[in-house]
Amino acid sequence: MGSVTEEIKARIDIVDLISDYVTLKKAGRNYKALCPFHSEKTPSFFVFPETQTWRCFGACNEGGDIFTFVMKHEGMDFPEALRFLARQAGVELKPSRGRTSAPKEEIERLSELLAEAARWFHHQLLNSPEAAGARAYIAKRGLEQATIQAFMLGYAPRRSRLSAHLRAAGYTTHEMLRAGVLTERDDGTLRDRFFHRLMIPIRDRNGRTVGFGARALEPDQVPKYMNSPQGPLFDKSKLLFGLDMARRTIREQEVAVIVEGYMDVMQAHQAGFTNVVAQMGTALTEPQLRQLSRYADRLILALDPDAAGVSATMRGLEVASQVLEKEKTPVFDPGGVMRWSGRLGVDFRVVVLPEGNDPDDLIRQSPEKWRELVGNARPVVDYVIESALRGKGELTAQEKEQIARQVLPIISAVESHLQRRDNIQKLARALRIDEATLMIWAERQRQLPRRPRRVKEPPKQPKSDKTHGPRREAYILAVLLVHPYLIYRANRRLRELGQPPLSDDDFTLASYRAVFRAFTSALGQDEYDPIDHIHRNTDPWVAEEADALLADFPPDSLPGDEKMALDWTAGVLRLRISALKRRLVEMRYLQEEIEAAGDLTLAADQATIMQQYTRDLGRLQKALSSELAAIRHI
Ligand code: UTP
Ligand code: MN
Repeated sequence: MGSVTEEIKARIDIVDLISDYVTLKKAGRNYKALCPFHSEKTPSFFVFPETQTWRCFGACNEGGDIFTFVMKHEGMDFPEALRFLARQAGVELKPSRGRTSAPKEEIERLSELLAEAARWFHHQLLNSPEAAGARAYIAKRGLEQATIQAFMLGYAPRRSRLSAHLRAAGYTTHEMLRAGVLTERDDGTLRDRFFHRLMIPIRDRNGRTVGFGARALEPDQVPKYMNSPQGPLFDKSKLLFGLDMARRTIREQEVAVIVEGYMDVMQAHQAGFTNVVAQMGTALTEPQLRQLSRYADRLILALDPDAAGVSATMRGLEVASQVLEKEKTPVFDPGGVMRWSGRLGVDFRVVVLPEGNDPDDLIRQSPEKWRELVGNARPVVDYVIESALRGKGELTAQEKEQIARQVLPIISAVESHLQRRDNIQKLARALRIDEATLMIWAERQRQLPRRPRRVKEPPKQPKSDKTHGPRREAYILAVLLVHPYLIYRANRRLRELGQPPLSDDDFTLASYRAVFRAFTSALGQDEYDPIDHIHRNTDPWVAEEADALLADFPPDSLPGDEKMALDWTAGVLRLRISALKRRLVEMRYLQEEIEAAGDLTLAADQATIMQQYTRDLGRLQKALSSELAAIRHI
């Protein structure tokens, strides 16, 4: 709800609008006219006030809403038609409402400033005599020239002249403060934030520089890492270090490895493990996991063996069950991880590193060992069961029950019923107790009051069968925006079912067609995420439509498991079926007209089209039922 197009539609009646262009005659509940888009003697152009749509059943065989009508009649594209109709409707087109907090231009400019700063630090590192110590440090850490280049490592001198350089490049003090490279002392004097540190530029997933992690070069220098302050660009809780470089591999392998530190990431990439990213000293957050789950089916968490590191990693993952909190048993919160893996449809695994090793050391010592450890990462539940059993010999009945009580809440955290059952079986096998008993315990667990949640509107579930056209179209499109690569799988499936791939013809609303077209062209490039690409490269109103769709179907409300592709394909088939049914109903109006007029050739033409539609409908219904059968099978 609430997009501009909807606002405009609420104010302009399609019958009024089209009457401005053609003479409409009443035909039952609807209106007809000679089609303005091709020449004809008998009216085959219809306007349907109930659905606020139009269609030509003649030579054009096209239809749509007020926007498509204006686009076709005036030769406009969607944004032009939007502006045109907004003016008529008296709807003010305000620039993009509340998408980013800081205006886009400022973000762009600050990120350019930071990129310039990164280049300057890099230049210092490579050329300045002062940087000799930093160069030695980098060599000691085993980072090679190519890595220094790829990550654009730099050096901030003791008396940094960065601000002078940036000023010469045209940036203002205000901008430098905003970007976090300058700080203001209490007395109002300014100084550079970073000095005598190894500078590690932090980039967002699209490669835009958004901040720095600056490593101390002396043992007594604190803190070890000084990071850019949280700001309009730099948000630790959303960023993953290395994602810009790792994204391609992660997508190819569908596996992402999450480590803790900058150094770990750089060492991993240098050794060819290019699917590694790091959270940055904070707990893993939902936005971070969500980003990764867009590219990867499997997330592997490389945990430092020390409990502090482990729990720090997991702290942010909401939902430790109360039981867990009370018993304080686990070192990290696998319940949170489980819930997330259930909700995001990812396979979450854990690799515990040998005592005293972080990935950086380990990879330097033996890349093979790292490969092996990662390859043997355990599913979270296995890991939890193993840790619970570790060091215990033969279990007494009481011990078994105690372990079950400790592990079951974690298992119950998974939203998927199938996965839950699977895991309960695993636990039953490990404890050698009856699965049915465990099931009963687990169900009881689930019925325990959940931890109070923040009050939130229940996610809107798309109503399945009764959903009418536009709502289902919106759903189909929103799913694509959240899981762009689904379209490849789904189109393959459609082909198997003898159906054409999804196209903009599948959407009746001009705004959805525009979003879909933008989406397709976004898929054709590899530089940005589709949704980012849409924001950057299409008219802001198309981007706004995309945002409105996402707001309407928040990612939380969308299915996230393996069934998704099939469910979604079924959704597309349903979309086509209801579109076809609607057309058949509409054609019946036309039929009546033609019969009344006694035009026999036209009647024959229409009968042919109706037969065609009916055949198509049969095929679609068959495809849908085999799709539904396939879904039942998994
Ligand atoms: P580590 O101390 O494990 O850092 O902290 P590291 O990357 O392995 O660095 P080296 O090997 O000691 O040089 C893990 C991450 O936590 C954040 C950084 O993102 C770091 O990479 N951190 C750590 C900070 O932000 N500030 C700190 O003072 C320490
Ligand atoms: Mn380290």
